[in-house]
Amino acid sequence: MVASDQSIAAEVGADILRRGGNAIDAAVAVGYAQAVVNPCCGNLGGGGFMTLRLADGKAVFLDFRERAPLAATRDMYLDAKGDPIPRASLDGWRAVAVPGTVLGLDMALQRYGTMRRAQVMAPAIALARGGFRLRRPDVDILASGAIAFAADREIGSIFLPGHVAPKPGQLLIQRKLAKTLSGIARSGPRFFYSGPIAARLAKASQAGGGLLTAADLAAYTVASREPVRCSYRGYDIISAPPPSSGGTTLCEILNIVEGYKLRDFGYGSSASAQLLIEAMRAAFKDRNSALGDPDFIDNPVAHLVSKDYAASLRPAIDARRAGEKTAPDTAPTGHEGTQTTHFSVVDKAGNAVAVTFSLNAYFGAQVMAPDTGFFLNDTMDDFTTKPGAANVYGLVQGAANAIAPGKRPLSSMTPTIIAKDGKPFLVLGSPGGSRIITAVAEAIINVVDYGMNVQEAVDAPRFHFQGQPDLVAAEPYAFAPDVMNSLREKGYTLDVQKPWGAVEAVQVGDGGAAAPAVKTVGDDTLKAGPAKAGSVYGANDNRRPAGAAIGP
Ligand code: DON
Repeated sequence: MVASDQSIAAEVGADILRRGGNAIDAAVAVGYAQAVVNPCCGNLGGGGFMTLRLADGKAVFLDFRERAPLAATRDMYLDAKGDPIPRASLDGWRAVAVPGTVLGLDMALQRYGTMRRAQVMAPAIALARGGFRLRRPDVDILASGAIAFAADREIGSIFLPGHVAPKPGQLLIQRKLAKTLSGIARSGPRFFYSGPIAARLAKASQAGGGLLTAADLAAYTVASREPVRCSYRGYDIISAPPPSSGGTTLCEILNIVEGYKLRDFGYGSSASAQLLIEAMRAAFKDRNSALGDPDFIDNPVAHLVSKDYAASLRPAIDARRAGEKTAPDTAPTGHEGTQTTHFSVVDKAGNAVAVTFSLNAYFGAQVMAPDTGFFLNDTMDDFTTKPGAANVYGLVQGAANAIAPGKRPLSSMTPTIIAKDGKPFLVLGSPGGSRIITAVAEAIINVVDYGMNVQEAVDAPRFHFQGQPDLVAAEPYAFAPDVMNSLREKGYTLDVQKPWGAVEAVQVGDGGAAAPAVKTVGDDTLKAGPAKAGSVYGANDNRRPAGAAIGP
């Protein structure tokens, strides 16, 4: 089963499984296909993380997160007065960090795949060379970049052919991207990191005032790390360690709420919402101050994910009122909801793969080197540009995540695998910047505590709180009016916003035997069949009409 927010990419992965590839072969094929059919987010010029749980139970985490160029400095986005220069870490070549995707996908394939590089890349190359038919959701995503595309001849020639925005039904052909992909398929990551692509990127970066050089690309490495682990009500959580904050923050949230009977409080109740909000408050405070690239700082992960630490935080939660505000309060930021992309794969042997990769904002820094066909990331914005200043996700971070040459910026991406009784149970992740972590936490709670099936769990309305700003963001229908009133009376400020995130998930029936067979809806119970043993269920988030979950 492959769940991806772009159905053509999901189909590519399912086809690899049909042809006998394993989950890693399929995931790598989906990754490259995503770079073609989902150009906002799927990428060659960005980075990300892959959480793997192999059929034999071994779990690994591949960190192909972007790294700061060697010429990067702590204060590079500040003006002479020490204030952040607006959008300096987001737009243009100066915002670009060294991309990791190509080496990351390649390492996954070489270490854990069974197929040849050229085999898994063939579908992506064909989609780029022959084109694919744009559908309404694809066109809508491209439209969001139209202004930037019009400003750049290289980008405009691909995405605004004849200076006209593409329409549904139109074929999008990306010949330059096809050439880049073919070069990688033929010569491997060398083609990208020390060959012609590196030369073109370095030249364009220099011309555009960026820091990226050929030496940065040549020095890029992927790290294989131990995943973060914790348990939640008997389920084993395997998730993203630093330089992602995802797994640590997810575990802290789950550990805190594990001390309460969420199921008895009931889905959508004000009591369960408040507990989650307070757990999020505590976990984000730690996230923002304590975490950073493990190659540069010591991360207190073991402490933050321990049950004892969670127990020490619970007494501060007062059911009658909102917890102590995280100071200082900051201005609300617009939510950056749908960039980035996550996909989940499970094969018939039981190998499970969760991949989240990103250009950061839509189309990244919105720059492209001539004759390459792919966008570069603006992931430098994930660093602390200045302690106390909020980034595009409203995150106010500390010195642990300060910019340094070669360092990886702290991420919120949370590719997660849950096992039960030694078998894979749930594979999931999401885009959404800092909201990734809460989207994943809520989907897990919806399955484990409220007995939702995986599709219901993914589709259910979300809410999000990160302490700064002091605002609980809620999707429409997340809270009933009386629940909103109750939360407001306790001192919470609520803000209903348009939906965000896109959880792409796969659930394996076997491990779900312990999932509740009844759902609790208020005082009433409703019989719901548990996932059937041996069955595999895929869920594409209903917020992403272009996506699909496809089984062979
Ligand atoms: O690594 C991070 O946390 C961000 N760069 C992820 C960006 C993202 O999810 C954008 N999508 N909404």
